[in-house]
Amino acid sequence: MNTKLFLAALALSSTTASAQTIKTTFAGDTAIVTVTNPTKYLILPIEENRPEAQVLLDNGKKTDTWMDVRLAVSKTDYSVPFELSKGKKAVVKIVGLAKDAQALKELKLSDTFDTRNTDYYRPVYHHTPLYGWMNDPNGMVYKDGEYHLFYQYNPYGSKWGNMNWGHAISKDLVNWEHRPVAIAPDAFGTIFSGSAVIDHHNTAGFGAGAIVAIYTQNGDRQVQSIAYSTDNGRTFTKYENNPVLVSEARDFRDPKVFWYEGTKRWIMVLAVGQEMQFFSSPNLKDWTFESSFGKGHGAHGNVWECPDLFELPVEGTNEKKWVLLCSLGDGPFGDSATQYFVGSFNGKEFVNESPSKTKWMDWGKDHYATVTWSDAPDNRRIAIAWMSNWQYANDVPTSQYRSPNSVPRDLSLFTVDGETYLQSAPSPELLALRDASKKRSFKVNGTRTIKEMISGNDGAYEIELTIENQHADVIGFRLYNDKGEEVDMQYDMKEKKFSMDRRKSGDVGFNENFPMLTWTAIESGKDELKLRLFVDKSSVEAFGDGGRFVMTNQVFPSEPYTHIDFYSKGGAYKVDSFVIYKLKK
Ligand code: FRU
Repeated sequence: MNTKLFLAALALSSTTASAQTIKTTFAGDTAIVTVTNPTKYLILPIEENRPEAQVLLDNGKKTDTWMDVRLAVSKTDYSVPFELSKGKKAVVKIVGLAKDAQALKELKLSDTFDTRNTDYYRPVYHHTPLYGWMNDPNGMVYKDGEYHLFYQYNPYGSKWGNMNWGHAISKDLVNWEHRPVAIAPDAFGTIFSGSAVIDHHNTAGFGAGAIVAIYTQNGDRQVQSIAYSTDNGRTFTKYENNPVLVSEARDFRDPKVFWYEGTKRWIMVLAVGQEMQFFSSPNLKDWTFESSFGKGHGAHGNVWECPDLFELPVEGTNEKKWVLLCSLGDGPFGDSATQYFVGSFNGKEFVNESPSKTKWMDWGKDHYATVTWSDAPDNRRIAIAWMSNWQYANDVPTSQYRSPNSVPRDLSLFTVDGETYLQSAPSPELLALRDASKKRSFKVNGTRTIKEMISGNDGAYEIELTIENQHADVIGFRLYNDKGEEVDMQYDMKEKKFSMDRRKSGDVGFNENFPMLTWTAIESGKDELKLRLFVDKSSVEAFGDGGRFVMTNQVFPSEPYTHIDFYSKGGAYKVDSFVIYKLKK
């Protein structure tokens, strides 16, 4: 990964240019680091469980912003690059750090930063930031053959803080080009979640086809701002009259914007406290309140976040319905989860067609802030979720980076007993990852062990199962390794449930909320079961029946699960087809 960068780093070690110096002086509690002939970066040593110190690149401007950085006090866990200004001199101020702190002794200058992977648990085919913390996917938009993925990003450490919009670009939803930070904090605050649109008709005056990002700024208040790009997302310019929407509400964030042809207006859905508010605008700058939705609908144990709203055809009909996504910290297994509502939208109001139902998009514990791409080709509605949970996201056992995104999923609607549900199928692009495979079929009556699912298993694979039940009460399978670490999955045919148990999956001790069995109801009356499992070093995503149920869970085994036991209880079943594919980029 980024070998070029690294080689350049070796060639240009910090000490080669003698004229480059770092000098640290103190003014009261403030350390003043003066760099002569600055390189591109000052490399900051981080110690993760230290409190944040405040770091400022002092350009003498009103827009200069302090960053919170867990600078090393007694030992360095890893380092992060801090971009310096160009010129003869750069001044960095640090407050909240002891004068004898390790970080001050280890500050280094460099024009490059080594981003080669250092984390065993880093997935192979899921998107992760090269380094630093990531949460919600943001601003997803497709333009000119490129999928843009922005995300909540801390470039100065692998815990939450200093929200920027990180950026990655892909042509196929699985290979990601890592781009520099797209939108950085300013005087209005850090850059929280939001969306991006293509302004085809130049309604905002930034140019036809400009990508316009609409995001929350978190400062004294939460306000909505916009920025635009006329070079396909490579650079963004903040609108000079930001913010474009303010309120007295404390939780007022995560704008999702789309064009509504019916009224020829932009619509913004905003999470406000425990409801969604709808605004409209002719130009992305002037917004008018239209209505709100939420009271008495769905789960309410916490503030609502990260809305999305889109229309989808209902499978097997000529009908279309609107789907409102809503993430909140009150999911079925504790904290982070995404609920959704199905109904209608007329440009002003959303009407939920099933007010008494709570519907969850995914039944695992690591599926949050789920939103979809704007302008995706072929009328596709592609979603991606942050694959973690606020209960423990800051504690998971990685350090160079924290938290991946889920695999991309194509959304559709299906109906069971008059009720319409969201289906999340693995996006077809994932098929291109399939490498060596092995297919088996067998009957299970008791236990059937497959010692080696496939040779050379590095923990990144897909399992595709077709099972025919022949009177079993429990259809079970257990992925495990030689350390006795396992993920146990079961269809309970009597209870009509599918479950995934990660309580013995490996490292589960970093947070008390991590060990967990997650489960979901399955449709009754089916004897043929279809399941696709995506395993990628530190996650298992289960897609039942083409995504009619989904379960996304992180796991941290000390070595890959290379074995599988199939077991039955109360009767036998037939595995018509068990295929394992190694997945490779
Ligand atoms: C959801 C969230 C958003 C907010 C962002 C901040 O995970 O809390 O509501 O914009 O994260 O990083």
